[in-house]
Amino acid sequence: MRLREEFNGSIPPTSEYKLQLGDFLNEGGTSFVFLGEKLYKGDMHQTVVVKLAKTIEEITSARAKEYVKSHPDIFSDEARSLLKAEYSSYVVKLYDRGDFRGRPYLVMEYLPQWHYPNLEERLAYEAENIKSVDMSPRSRLSIMWKIASALQSVKCYIFNHRDLKPSNILFTYSEGRVRMCDFQTAISDNEEDWYDGVSFGSSVYSSPEEIRNAVRGAGKRLPTPKDSSGLYLERVGSNADLYALGLVFARISNPLIPVTSFPSHADKCDERAFYESVDGILGKLPDYSAHVRGIADFPGLPNRIKNDCIGSCKDVVKRICGKCITFDSVPSHFGRGRFESLGEIMTKLQDAVFAIDLHDHFKSAYQNPPDQNSKPGP
Ligand SMILES: Nc1ncnc2c1ncn2[C@@H]1O[C@H](COP(=O)(O)OP(=O)(O)O)[C@@H](O)[C@H]1O
Ligand SMILES: [Mg+2]
Repeated sequence: MRLREEFNGSIPPTSEYKLQLGDFLNEGGTSFVFLGEKLYKGDMHQTVVVKLAKTIEEITSARAKEYVKSHPDIFSDEARSLLKAEYSSYVVKLYDRGDFRGRPYLVMEYLPQWHYPNLEERLAYEAENIKSVDMSPRSRLSIMWKIASALQSVKCYIFNHRDLKPSNILFTYSEGRVRMCDFQTAISDNEEDWYDGVSFGSSVYSSPEEIRNAVRGAGKRLPTPKDSSGLYLERVGSNADLYALGLVFARISNPLIPVTSFPSHADKCDERAFYESVDGILGKLPDYSAHVRGIADFPGLPNRIKNDCIGSCKDVVKRICGKCITFDSVPSHFGRGRFESLGEIMTKLQDAVFAIDLHDHFKSAYQNPPDQNSKPGP
């Protein structure tokens, strides 16, 4: 790739190390992402990721072009957020930043992904190979739990990610590590930012309140609930990301749900149309209680335990998604309100995983009863 050759031929070494670009890894809306190597004096080196900004001509999305025109140093906000979250084990680490011939770049921790560069590509693979992908309900619930913990961690350092979607979630399927990336639109908890319309991350995953603000404010950054023309904007609170989280969970639970069936921007302005789309999604979510129903036949277990076990798994993803994918962040006249925080979601996921473990434990105990005649070990 020409960009790599130019970069490697002309980046002057810093006092500490020389940066070399390696294989091309992936691209996002505004960047090319490469493997890189920091070469220190002697034979010390470190594998990193280099995220290089695209030029305006290289960006395809009109919204992203607009954003980059008004933010030439596009990675400065992202770098600030990454530094803020530097102690989170769920956020990619930022090592350095620089500029290559007018292209800002970030040098970051490399999260090896093996076959799938991000969760989006893994889900796309699953959708195409659903018959051969063997993932248990427990694995799917555990991935959801890890993503919820990652978002919880992000929330401790930053306020809203605002561009949560599978392509911004890095996941190693071998070790089950999750990292969040792409903090270009993340904002802190300054009250004036709560009313900001969507900067450019306006995707199908954006919360309805962000989209409605963007429509009302026509993409303008409006610092207060009421701008000079008298427009009222809705508060975009910390649970705006939970909208996206619900959609991510729906896809993890059933990768065959097409993104095109998600509520559109128009639906996000019309509550009835919105809930028609949402009900379509909720209707396609599997019921994991089928996995643990057999516990009812295990003799000797109190009914309360059996009922709790089945109850924790009964429609667990549907219950979570139904309280994430909502029109308003507070209960509206359709009576559906969003979770206020991640705590309740994480507890529900944990309870379901625990119920599956309990079921599997008793199942194997009944199938392999201890041998009465075996001698006790030393
Ligand atoms: N630290 C990283 N380790 C491994 N892959 C990464 C890393 N950061 C980004 N990527 C890859 O690059 C893609 C684009 O990165 P992202 O930060 O989302 O760019 P953009 O802001 O342009 O959307 C990601 O979906 C992922 O596949
Ligand atoms: Mg991205």
